[in-house]
Amino acid sequence: MTSSYQRLSSPLSLDASHEAFERTKRSVGGGVSSGMRAATKPHPLFVNRAAGAHVWDLDGAEFIDYVMAWGPSIVGHSHPHVVEAVMEVIPRMQMVGMGHTLEYEAAELVLEAVPGAERLLWTNSGTEAVQIALRLARAGTGRSKVLKFTRSYHGWHDSVYASMGADHTAEKAMRSTAGQSLNAIRDLVVTEYNSISEAERILGEARERDIAAVLIDPIMSNAGLIPPAPGYLERLRELCDEHGVVLIFDQVIAGFRIARGGVTERYGVTPDLSTFGKAIAGGFSQSAVVGKAALIDQVQHGVSHAGTYNGNPVALAAVKATQEILAEPGVYDRLEDVSAYFQSGVQSVFDRLPYRPTSRRVGSFATFVPQSDGAAVAAPADIWDRITAGTLARGVAFLPTGKIFLSTEHTRADVDRTVDVLGEVVDGLVGNASSL
Ligand SMILES: Cc1ncc(COP(=O)(O)O)c(C=O)c1O
Repeated sequence: MTSSYQRLSSPLSLDASHEAFERTKRSVGGGVSSGMRAATKPHPLFVNRAAGAHVWDLDGAEFIDYVMAWGPSIVGHSHPHVVEAVMEVIPRMQMVGMGHTLEYEAAELVLEAVPGAERLLWTNSGTEAVQIALRLARAGTGRSKVLKFTRSYHGWHDSVYASMGADHTAEKAMRSTAGQSLNAIRDLVVTEYNSISEAERILGEARERDIAAVLIDPIMSNAGLIPPAPGYLERLRELCDEHGVVLIFDQVIAGFRIARGGVTERYGVTPDLSTFGKAIAGGFSQSAVVGKAALIDQVQHGVSHAGTYNGNPVALAAVKATQEILAEPGVYDRLEDVSAYFQSGVQSVFDRLPYRPTSRRVGSFATFVPQSDGAAVAAPADIWDRITAGTLARGVAFLPTGKIFLSTEHTRADVDRTVDVLGEVVDGLVGNASSL
């Protein structure tokens, strides 16, 4: 692949993206197709090519990409095996709304990868997968309520997008967006993540409280990447078994990313149901709820599961191809190697800042942490914005949220380049005392 990297000292013009953003705003609400993208500093990057771990903007400038489509692109952009699989299907069929063999071929690979998984249902997005998982849990238990955790994100649907604020600590779910139905969140009970005593207290009364499910992202992917405390998931599993509650792991980010077998492979606890999205399909829209046959087979006994686009051949060809790549020996070792190399490289730069930012990481997923424990100086609230605006202008794209995604296509050379760019940006901040 030819490289058109700019010299470190000559920042890129992002003018074409700026103009495109201004024009998009005139036809597309907010100028972005998913709200958080608007938070990118100084403005969203407009891309017209993506390959491997790199993207190219409208001017043809090349960027190392740690956005990776906000998680899906675990095998990099346009992986040849995925492209080939998709291109084989497209001239044959696109949407058919009938049975086709990719439904089971892709499903078999997913079930083989996920420990304890017996059956799955295809859906299109993580948000949808969570909704059908909750419906299965309610049908299976005859109960209504769902225990979720403060700040944990499970999609944008009214019924789960609640208590997202750091200050939301009450058991009663709090609305997290204007326009949200308060009725929709009445079925939520909210508690603090990683508190065994709180889980014991609430789940001890699961029958009286009418709790059908515990819905947990076991690494708190969208709330700082916090691994489960030792024994926490095990205790949740016991409590769910004891009190007849369905344990649902939301693995929309963690799935196929922190390990091929996701949370269960890494932390050794098997849920009743899991939701997968993002990396399951290597860049195409497909998700799944995966788990116990007894729960999932309720779709044959009164539980409605619908969706025009569910299990469409093009997306399932991508799922199958992605799973084939991820099943190759050594893939996760290589991901771990480059991700660890990235983490130590960026830390060597972060250490130059007085508040010593750091990162948390599980596998190929990391999160920026603005300051280390015990740092004498508090980090400015917008430190990540400043860093990422600087790196974007020098050819390295990060998410505005602080989440960082690597892929099988990132190389140590990409990381070296990233560390150089980050160093230049951080040195600029250090040199300009008012930026600190
Ligand atoms: C943990 C988790 N659950 C659910 C979702 C929703 O997935 P989607 O955006 O595909 O609807 C997300 C999206 O980021 C997520 O991170």
